[in-house]
Amino acid sequence: MSNIIIDVQDVSMCFNMTTEKINGLKEFLIKRIKNQISYTEFWALKDISFQVKRGELFGVLGLNGAGKSTLLKTVAGVLKPTSGKIDIAGRMAPLIELGAGFDAELTARENIYLNGAILGYSKKEMNLIFQEIVDFSELVEFIDVPIKNYSSGMYARLGFAIATATRPDILIVDEILSVGDFKFQQKCELKISDMVRQGTSVLLVSHSIDQIRNLCSKGIILEKGSLIKQGNIEELCDYYYSKYT
Ligand SMILES: Nc1ncnc2c1ncn2[C@@H]1O[C@H](COP(=O)(O)OP(=O)(O)OP(=O)(O)O)[C@@H](O)[C@H]1O
Ligand SMILES: [Mg+2]
Repeated sequence: MSNIIIDVQDVSMCFNMTTEKINGLKEFLIKRIKNQISYTEFWALKDISFQVKRGELFGVLGLNGAGKSTLLKTVAGVLKPTSGKIDIAGRMAPLIELGAGFDAELTARENIYLNGAILGYSKKEMNLIFQEIVDFSELVEFIDVPIKNYSSGMYARLGFAIATATRPDILIVDEILSVGDFKFQQKCELKISDMVRQGTSVLLVSHSIDQIRNLCSKGIILEKGSLIKQGNIEELCDYYYSKYT
């Protein structure tokens, strides 16, 4: 079995953006029929290539708009890259957008099963890890409350607890830990390290250079959609720090 669990090969992502101001759907449709809408291409990712090995904690650094979330979405399969290829060897649990895979009208209990189903787990499998999820999230008193009443930190706790309890081969975390309180962030960091020791690979986006430095061993820096540097995390964080602060 190959040791490479995420293989990103020459991935580019182009978004089409309308360049003129359009007032409402009617005007949009009329202009579209008349072929009067001009689009500009925007390349959010340009020829990105890197590999993540089994049991590696891989950090993605970059300023706002650099393309980090777009990259994570292409790896998670939420977005199809315009060109290039991504090979994934294992079960993945993506934590990309707060509340993704949840139904706000349902309770946390119901959402645990819903989210589990989305990740490919049966009710029976989820029964086995249900208590672990409730315990880790520390939401036992709120477990039968519709999650539309949850705070963003509570959403993050629930999402993180589900994603980690399913013991994925690949965990993808985009910034989500930052809405948790200090205590919960520490708990999540310990959990991530623990999973990595057991062979999980993690792709982590964080604006906290310290968090990336402490947790990750390797990583990349994105700048305006391009990969400008990759390698050892110490070197990468030093470079990032000196370049952008
Ligand atoms: N669906 C979309 N349509 C058009 N443009 C998009 C779309 N999604 C992202 N973009 C653009 O792609 C660029 C990269 O966005 P992305 O969300 O990946 O940045 P990011 O590095 O995650 O930033 P942040 O640190 O703020 O989370 C931005 O300029 C954004 O406007
Ligand atoms: Mg982002």
